[in-house]
Amino acid sequence: MSEKPKNDLLGIRYLSAEQIQALYQLADRFWEVLQQPTRKVAALTGSTVALLFFESSTRTKLSFELAAKRLGADVLNFSATGSSLDKGETLLDTALNILAMGVDAFVVRHRGVGSAHFLAKHLPVPVINAGDGTHEHPTQALLDTYTLYRHFGRLEGLTLTIIGDLFHSRVALSHLHIAPKVGLSLRLCAPPSLIPALWYQLGYPIYTEVVPAVAGADAVLVLRMQKERQSYPPIASWQEYSRFYQLKPEHLRPGQVLLHPGPINWGVELHPALQAWPHTRILDQVTHGVAIRMAVLYWLLRG
Ligand code: NCD
Repeated sequence: MSEKPKNDLLGIRYLSAEQIQALYQLADRFWEVLQQPTRKVAALTGSTVALLFFESSTRTKLSFELAAKRLGADVLNFSATGSSLDKGETLLDTALNILAMGVDAFVVRHRGVGSAHFLAKHLPVPVINAGDGTHEHPTQALLDTYTLYRHFGRLEGLTLTIIGDLFHSRVALSHLHIAPKVGLSLRLCAPPSLIPALWYQLGYPIYTEVVPAVAGADAVLVLRMQKERQSYPPIASWQEYSRFYQLKPEHLRPGQVLLHPGPINWGVELHPALQAWPHTRILDQVTHGVAIRMAVLYWLLRG
């Protein structure tokens, strides 16, 4: 088990601007490692990382797994289906039992807001929040901004527009916290029913129409409708959502970078013709996610 003082990554809100820059620099180093033929370093040999995913995931789970393995760590994969949760075991008991097997860090995704914070309070090893309900998804905001940083060579002074389900998105909330720390100007765009009332007081420009929200922005991050958390369509119907809020090729100008955290619902939030947009960086986000998660794991376990 780790003998280092315990450190967690629960949200961007707890990171300083300096820590974020340090994580980008570590990611740069690991990016270089990933370009080598072996794509591996022995930085976390002897450590074990447990992935506790209580919600569906493709990118986040696999990229944490790959990041840990590229650093030489062992990975313990837990998935809620088929576990003793069916028999009434609690979240904490589940984690404590996995800890008893000899685990040095936990990566947790759970639909409960604050679930990673709860586990962090009770576990003696680092906990990484891989998405807690509608709250935060810190590594996604780190990899999105890292992708922009690698593309533009800087973040300071860039304008990023986020369009989509702001209300239910943990990605959006993590971006609200990261933007001022890295010097990004943020614009937010959604139907009024998907803009949390308190966000009007934060000082970010808020738009309810796509055209002015996107005009002149350096990059656009489009979010999926988080239907699993919505009790009714955000505007009269899904068809109307796509008609008024779908990003279409005619909204973009050459050079404007397109981002999406995935999974994408083509034809809902993104027009299918944008699959051919030359300035898309959506798969780069996935690639960079491995380097960012290597940086986070290394920082928490050895930093
Ligand atoms: C995001 C998530 O899970 O919050 N996806 C991801 O981590 N790649 C966004 C989403 O599910 O829409």
